[in-house]
Amino acid sequence: MKADYNSISEHWLTARKTLPAKDQELFELFLGKLPINSKILDLGCGHGVPVATLIANYGHKIVGVDRSETLLAYARHAMPEHDWILRELEDFEPADNYDGIVIWDSLFHLPRAAQLTLLRKAAEALNPNGMLILSSGGSENDIPPFTDQMFGHTFFYDSFTISQLLLHCTELGLNIIKSALVNTPDGKRDKGRLGVVLQKSIK
Ligand SMILES: C[S@@+](CC[C@H](N)C(=O)[O-])C[C@H]1O[C@@H](n2cnc3c(N)ncnc32)[C@H](O)[C@@H]1O
Repeated sequence: MKADYNSISEHWLTARKTLPAKDQELFELFLGKLPINSKILDLGCGHGVPVATLIANYGHKIVGVDRSETLLAYARHAMPEHDWILRELEDFEPADNYDGIVIWDSLFHLPRAAQLTLLRKAAEALNPNGMLILSSGGSENDIPPFTDQMFGHTFFYDSFTISQLLLHCTELGLNIIKSALVNTPDGKRDKGRLGVVLQKSIK
């Protein structure tokens, strides 16, 4: 089941305006390690607020990829000097190399096998020393894929456990700069959220 943000776009545009403080801290770490005028790939960019906007404000160039026409239309209108690609993350083949890649709050909408494929493509598309920032589920328990309701619509979620995810990343040649829970699981609806800042090793 693919995440359909078109059907909740009005709610989403209203709800998603700022980054929570813990997310912001990780983004500052990521941004602090990027060279000036970096080229950044934002996978599951949504309408470009707040993430792409924040990064663009540092002078970097964004290539955003998302499956929601409605959210991308907003991003294109607000940030016409950047590139916005309508594509399924599962089908996306990076045609370029990037200084930084963002997979924020989008990875968990894909099944784990597709997440691993996307992480592999991202690791390959990064320049040496390139930075990756991603979020994932924040649990050490192996929670099976599940669905949840958002604004009256059903969304699919899946995540590796924290240790599985970090192991996959290091096996892909990505060094963990920082990994932190940005949401703590509450044992009920909130399964927690992990934020990770990684850097591609120089080979
Ligand atoms: C929770 S939103 C996060 C948006 C943005 N990264 C942010 O942090 O504000 C998830 C985004 O991932 C996109 N998405 C989810 N599954 C996708 C898929 N299979 N292919 C492309 N985009 C996808 C959705 O359309 C949505 O814009």
